[in-house]
Amino acid sequence: EDLELTGHEHYMRKEMLEQPDSAEAVIRGRLDERFGTARLDGLNLAPRELRGFRRVKILGCGSAYYVGQLGAQLLEELARVPADAEAASEFRYRNPVIEPDTLYVVVSQSGETADTAFAVQEVKRKGGQVVALVNVVGSTIAREVDGGIYLHAGPEIAVASTKALTNMAMAFAMLALLIGRVHDLSVADGKRIIDGLKAIPAQIREILGQEGEIAELAREIAGSQSAFYIGRVRGFPVAREGAQKLKEVSYIHAEAYQTSELKHAPLALIDESMPTVAIIPDDDLTDRNVAAAEQVLARKGPLVAITHPGVDLSHLGIRSIVVPRSEPELDPILLTIPTQLIAYHAALALGHDIDKPRNLAKSVTVE
Ligand code: G6P
Repeated sequence: EDLELTGHEHYMRKEMLEQPDSAEAVIRGRLDERFGTARLDGLNLAPRELRGFRRVKILGCGSAYYVGQLGAQLLEELARVPADAEAASEFRYRNPVIEPDTLYVVVSQSGETADTAFAVQEVKRKGGQVVALVNVVGSTIAREVDGGIYLHAGPEIAVASTKALTNMAMAFAMLALLIGRVHDLSVADGKRIIDGLKAIPAQIREILGQEGEIAELAREIAGSQSAFYIGRVRGFPVAREGAQKLKEVSYIHAEAYQTSELKHAPLALIDESMPTVAIIPDDDLTDRNVAAAEQVLARKGPLVAITHPGVDLSHLGIRSIVVPRSEPELDPILLTIPTQLIAYHAALALGHDIDKPRNLAKSVTVE
């Protein structure tokens, strides 16, 4: 039944709407409230091994790479372990140094992406330890790694990934919790993150409830040739994924920038015809993000903000999408949801084949 459209026009929409349930599935039975940690037995890593990793390297392609950037931030913030993400498609070509005290984490919905599978082999050939975040049980990558976290998102048919990405981010949060708790993350902070994760499914439902208004904004963006997505720190992977999704399904050119980089070139392109989607969470950088939004508006650039309750944007005279607050480290998971709806409704307005965008495949099994 999962594979049926069940009355939906597109799999992408069906899969977006499934997210409250699929996000519930990825955390089910994996949160240890008593000790403020996660139970991830499939990783096959004992606490002493986990404690021994001095670094985490995340590898994935396309959207999985962008979620990997979010994952790296979560690991650095919660576990204070240096972490970064890299495109798996480039990894083996630069003859990477594989370190014994680095944990390699590959991310893939399908578990069949050739570039990601080759990255696994490169790590293994050089004696590194690699685990995977994978959705498809028994897939090539799942079979090749030393352990992993299954995403339990259910079958994903649309080429543009939505629910699997959300679960990748949820899984990274649990991995960060687990590694954090063998380092210096307190029980109280662990519990705070657990409560945040438990609240996410209902919060996603709340955001999906705004589909009508978001669709209206998307239709305006659909009239443009090109768009910017801007965000800072936690908001930057959100911007990158938002731009990626818009390109994939609507074929509108979209570029993501750190909001702080706007003045270092992209501002030159802002005019009435260049809409900007700005990620403006309620955090330490809100004022700076608002100042950047003002600069866009001063150059007559149409602006849509994805923001939090309590961020006062009333003086800007723009329409914004307000998402519920999570724990700050988890905010990007929720801030990403409206970008899916924007991409979907822009593509719908343009009449594209949403589930099978031209020239793209759900999983690229050749190099
Ligand atoms: C393809 C798809 C992308 C996807 C990427 C990684 O390029 O078009 O949407 O993000 O593969 O897929 P994976 O299955 O490895 O997550």
